[in-house]
Amino acid sequence: MEKIELIKPDDWHVHFRDNEILKAVVPETTRHFSRAIVMPNLTPPILTGNDAIEYKKRIENEIPKEDEFLPLMTLYLTENTNKDELKKSYENGLVFAAKLYPAGATTNSEAGVKDIQKIMPILETMSDIGMPLLIHGEVTNQEIDIFDREKKFIDTTLHFICTKLPDLKITVEHITTKEASLYVKEGNRNLVASITPHHLALNRNAIFVGGIKPHNYCLPILKREEHRKALLKVATNGNSKFFLGTDTAPHFISDKESACGCAGIFNATYCIPILAQIFDNENALPQLENFISKNGAKHYNLNINKEKITLIKSSQNLIFKKYLDVNEQKIKIFDPDFLVFWEVAE
Ligand code: DOR
Ligand code: ZN
Repeated sequence: MEKIELIKPDDWHVHFRDNEILKAVVPETTRHFSRAIVMPNLTPPILTGNDAIEYKKRIENEIPKEDEFLPLMTLYLTENTNKDELKKSYENGLVFAAKLYPAGATTNSEAGVKDIQKIMPILETMSDIGMPLLIHGEVTNQEIDIFDREKKFIDTTLHFICTKLPDLKITVEHITTKEASLYVKEGNRNLVASITPHHLALNRNAIFVGGIKPHNYCLPILKREEHRKALLKVATNGNSKFFLGTDTAPHFISDKESACGCAGIFNATYCIPILAQIFDNENALPQLENFISKNGAKHYNLNINKEKITLIKSSQNLIFKKYLDVNEQKIKIFDPDFLVFWEVAE
């Protein structure tokens, strides 16, 4: 048996949804994580500081008594976002960051931004006040191949924003390509990226192996093996610009196993054991703590957590629970389809 103790991790990108799903998924995150950045893509979206505070209360109501957990709230940027209100919400501590969804890029992004020029004054304000910008980095132009949308976004939009506003703190969320890893690595010090467990675990074959696999469908879509390898490299080599954002994104199985299935992978439950296994396979366990517990906090100017977690590797592989029950419905729990020998000691 092997045992390691790590600083308790944070998840810099979660979808908690609302109502019955919220109730079911919050404990899956608070069990292992101290803090999380909560995404605002509800219907309707979180548009104001007041929306964020109300949503935060609903989240806090679902945190189990034994867990200490801080949700960090975000605003959903639109072309109508009022920059003075945004500034006030940030400076009063109602929200922690703002999320840029290109309109149509992903789940509940219809109200997002069509023309980046329209929000440049908002981004300037954010740069001035030090408010982090979180970006879903894909173009939405349907003529662009779905596998090229991240790269295209970097070339056409991200580079423009970074050049205009070098002091803006930017997280490119859930990067999936070697181009994104390279652009962030070589970009200015305010530019960082989050990486999900599923993009480290799987390549695009996993969507099609033996038939179509809707539970491996997410956005940005899984890419070729060479891209997965590039992500693995930056995640495991200790570069502080890359950190965990799980993008845990619950949808009912009826909405995933459908003629028009939703994008998103619910990975909160076994995220830490899966990552420990991935890092172990790469002989990179000594870097796991940087990736899951330190690098993100550093970028967001937050203290590192005081609590610790213990990971245990046993000779028996972990048996995954398949589903999370939500009343009469189910959410599929992410299973990367390789053996995992690590678990978090309770
Ligand atoms: O796969 C995804 N699901 N990607 C996203 O960007 C959003 C998320 C969701 O909210 O379902
Ligand atoms: Zn997301």
